[in-house]
Amino acid sequence: MTLTLAFIGGTGQQGFGLALRFAAAGYPVVIGSRESEKAARAAEEACGILREHGYDEASVEGAVNEDAASVADVVFLTVPFFALIDTVKGIEGGIESDDVVVDVTVPLETNVGGKPTRLIRPWAGSSAETVAELLPDVSVVSAFENVSAAALRKLDEEVDCDVVVCSDDDEAKRLVMDLAEEIPGVRAIDGGPLENARIVESITALLIGLNMRYGKEDVGVRFTNVP
Ligand SMILES: NC(=O)c1ccc[n+]([C@@H]2O[C@H](COP(=O)([O-])OP(=O)(O)OC[C@H]3O[C@@H](n4cnc5c(N)ncnc54)[C@H](OP(=O)(O)O)[C@@H]3O)[C@@H](O)[C@H]2O)c1
Repeated sequence: MTLTLAFIGGTGQQGFGLALRFAAAGYPVVIGSRESEKAARAAEEACGILREHGYDEASVEGAVNEDAASVADVVFLTVPFFALIDTVKGIEGGIESDDVVVDVTVPLETNVGGKPTRLIRPWAGSSAETVAELLPDVSVVSAFENVSAAALRKLDEEVDCDVVVCSDDDEAKRLVMDLAEEIPGVRAIDGGPLENARIVESITALLIGLNMRYGKEDVGVRFTNVP
């Protein structure tokens, strides 16, 4: 069975980039938004980009976030951290217990008016653990926080970045690691339990600082000597 993937807040940079990559890999993709028209426009734009790159069979639809979640097997959360809790509460009716929820959100200080190179510490420990507290009956996975939207968007280039995947559910973690490796250039790394999302999310703040200092938009991370 081909998994259907939904990107909640997929009209934004990160969700849109991931949606493009997974649609290019052959997965049916739904871009979610608070507004159905905005979702439909983003889906149309994604289909246009995919066709330009020769992915004529790619399937991208748009829907309001809750409907997107309800048709998907794997639900990616790609909203700003300040919107995360309300967003999860808004879609939880569409999430079934056998769905996998992938949190991509990073609790950057910009969410409370601070710097993009610093994190705020959510009370649960990380953004991903916040989601796990909100959805206790669902497998929550943390992934894709260290991949830049700009790199995802360049469909004719490989993504030069490792994706660290953390979860307390080994089966869900494996599934998301396999999905990550569908993106050309990506290597999935088993990041251990969900609480390690605290570390992975903080790497994003470092990467943003590196992008700023080196005048880049797509600095990534690679781990060496991992078998
Ligand atoms: N950009 C990157 O390179 C990157 C890399 C790694 C991780 N991330 C993380 O991925 C997440 C998304 O990043 P992004 O750059 O794609 O963000 P973004 O473009 O600012 O926002 C993504 C989407 O979230 C929705 N949204 C915005 N405000 C909202 C609100 N108050 N309530 C509900 N939904 C709201 C919007 O969708 P609608 O208006 O359509 O509802 C928006 O298009 C963030 O947590 C970020 O830290 C980003």
